[in-house]
Amino acid sequence: MATRRDLLKSIGISTLAVSSLALYACGETKSELVEAMPDSDDPDYWNKLRRQFMLSSDKVFFNTGTVGVMPRVVVEAVSKHLNYMATDVADWAYKDDSKEKFISGYQDLMYIRTKVGKIINCDPKGIALTDNVTNAMSYIANGLDLKAGDEVITSNQEHPGGRCSWEVREKRDGVVLKQIELPKPIQSPEEVLEIIINSFTPKTKVLMLSHIISGSGAILPGKEICAAAKARGIFTILDGAQTVGNIKVDIEELGCDAYVGCFHKWVGAPTGTGFMYVNPEKIKEVWTTVASAQWDNHEDEGYRFTQRGTGNFSILFGLDAALDFYFKVGHDRWTDRVKFLGDRLRNGLSQNKKVKFFHPKDPSMCAGLSVYNLEGFTGTQLQDAFWEKGRMRPRSVGDVFGVRHSTHIFNSAEEIDKAIDIVNQLSV
Ligand SMILES: Cc1ncc(COP(=O)(O)O)c(C=O)c1O
Repeated sequence: MATRRDLLKSIGISTLAVSSLALYACGETKSELVEAMPDSDDPDYWNKLRRQFMLSSDKVFFNTGTVGVMPRVVVEAVSKHLNYMATDVADWAYKDDSKEKFISGYQDLMYIRTKVGKIINCDPKGIALTDNVTNAMSYIANGLDLKAGDEVITSNQEHPGGRCSWEVREKRDGVVLKQIELPKPIQSPEEVLEIIINSFTPKTKVLMLSHIISGSGAILPGKEICAAAKARGIFTILDGAQTVGNIKVDIEELGCDAYVGCFHKWVGAPTGTGFMYVNPEKIKEVWTTVASAQWDNHEDEGYRFTQRGTGNFSILFGLDAALDFYFKVGHDRWTDRVKFLGDRLRNGLSQNKKVKFFHPKDPSMCAGLSVYNLEGFTGTQLQDAFWEKGRMRPRSVGDVFGVRHSTHIFNSAEEIDKAIDIVNQLSV
């Protein structure tokens, strides 16, 4: 069992600095009631892991693509720190604000950036922590030197949080934003690659695409796309809002110049936790947008973007706990499980001829997101029917495309099978 000293250490506060301990005493009592993480070889591993989440057992959440679910350890880390701030902020002697964990927004947060670098395989100096993906993309779009007539290529299936900062550059600076048409469903990686390569012109300076398209769940062939763009001197950015914790992301292998993403969907971190990565060789070309004392720090470029004024450290305690939880489950085990459940859903539904799919045909391009509709239904009708029949929550994505159905590690195979049954019942 964690001692009081361990608990205090885990939130970065020395025992000496703390005068009121009521909050932590309360934390200790609660922790005793929490089940330990299952052993990795436990045959009942996933059922036990489910109990690490506080999700009500009478409802089923299938919408991680919009917002993820925090495990209990994350909720506790956030709430402990939040309580501490409210009760004992007077402990803060403000001696060294570069180390003290009271407010975020001023420190380099290298201990968290290092963990992120381990997940996405890149140099943490190129990583900045941001509030979300929209911020991260805006920093890059605003920070690059582009002139009127320079082309930025993107697709017709980008999320506004990835796309709109480029629309600002178009309107403000005369940058030409070209939105290439990708099919839905996509058939194969080769099909996408050909469309993208054919769109390049001598004026193309930037390529920005989702690594996983949010409206179809399609995993694009990032490595091949970035290699083709790089060969033409094009700056490449992948929008990974839907990737980290859903599939493996390996920045070195992808070879992109920049990557943006978040932890509040597939990694179980609190909302308001995102990141940007820019290749250390290229990051000097990106101007700071939100500027404070580190704005011109070229020794630790990620710090330059991480420093963004007073922020909520409680959220970062949650992010740190979520990253530790991810490592405890294990990189492979986590992403394999997401894929296993997604494949189970897609395979089960494919037996029903009245179901139309909008995720890719090629199974290697799919993981935790499936997009489909049932003949005679709108997305809202299908979403509502899931709720009525099974208290299940996939998300409607419109009249034509039906629902986006996310599968994650807290979901069970039984829940997937029940969802397939519901669709089959609705189609008779
Ligand atoms: C592909 C994609 N890009 C960007 C975003 C925006 O992310 P955030 O809300 O973290 O800014 C989303 C959100 O769903 C998304 O799916």
